Amino acid sequence: MSKGFFITFEGIEGCGKTTQARLLAEYIQNGGRRVVLTREPGGTAIGKRIREILLDPESKGIDSRAELLLYFADRAQHVAEVIEPALADGAVVICDRFADATAAYQGFGRGVDLELVADLNNTATNGLTPDFTLLMDLPVVEGLRRARIRNGDINHAREGRFEEEPDEFHEKVRQGYLTIASCETDRFKIIDASGTPEEVQAAIRKTLPSPFNVRG
Ligand code: TMP
Repeated sequence: MSKGFFITFEGIEGCGKTTQARLLAEYIQNGGRRVVLTREPGGTAIGKRIREILLDPESKGIDSRAELLLYFADRAQHVAEVIEPALADGAVVICDRFADATAAYQGFGRGVDLELVADLNNTATNGLTPDFTLLMDLPVVEGLRRARIRNGDINHAREGRFEEEPDEFHEKVRQGYLTIASCETDRFKIIDASGTPEEVQAAIRKTLPSPFNVRG
């Protein structure tokens, strides 16, 4: 049994989860808990190299099974190297995307068998599931508009492979996430991500389980 607490952020492109994960990490840290803020893909040195392959638009021809297995390779390394040790040490781990992303993108989005995704997720995570998951929900048109502006930025210039997918793909991912959330209502909270960053963060704080409502 881990002593820590494991929070994940999920959502379509441009939903603002990276900003919100950072703001939540600061908030919980200010309340006196040790926080490890991390992400997938790319939460380890090995994972950063996997991330480059996965998100580079030049990887356009990647086979869907190869794509799937690279996400699991990234996750297995991340769980073993970062997440499990941090939880065992009592930290709050906040992860920007985790296993649900593979079900939403590769399962619902690409059409990979959902049972296969669940089996491989179980192997990659060593059976670890998040304690609490925030699904940042936003219409696809708005998310892609935000994501494409961000990708014009030099730091994201080589990370646009998924944004090049048609709107229908992203709609499948969004509906997939909502379906996953509806099956696990205890773990998931769905957040309306269309407000300002401050409004969205306030909504997130209201949903937190009580030990983290550090400032009421
Ligand atoms: P992000 O760090 O900007 O969220 O980018 C990660 C991209 O990888 C995003 O387009 C979603 C995609 N992804 C999957 O397709 N499957 C996964 O399992 C994960 C973690 C991410």
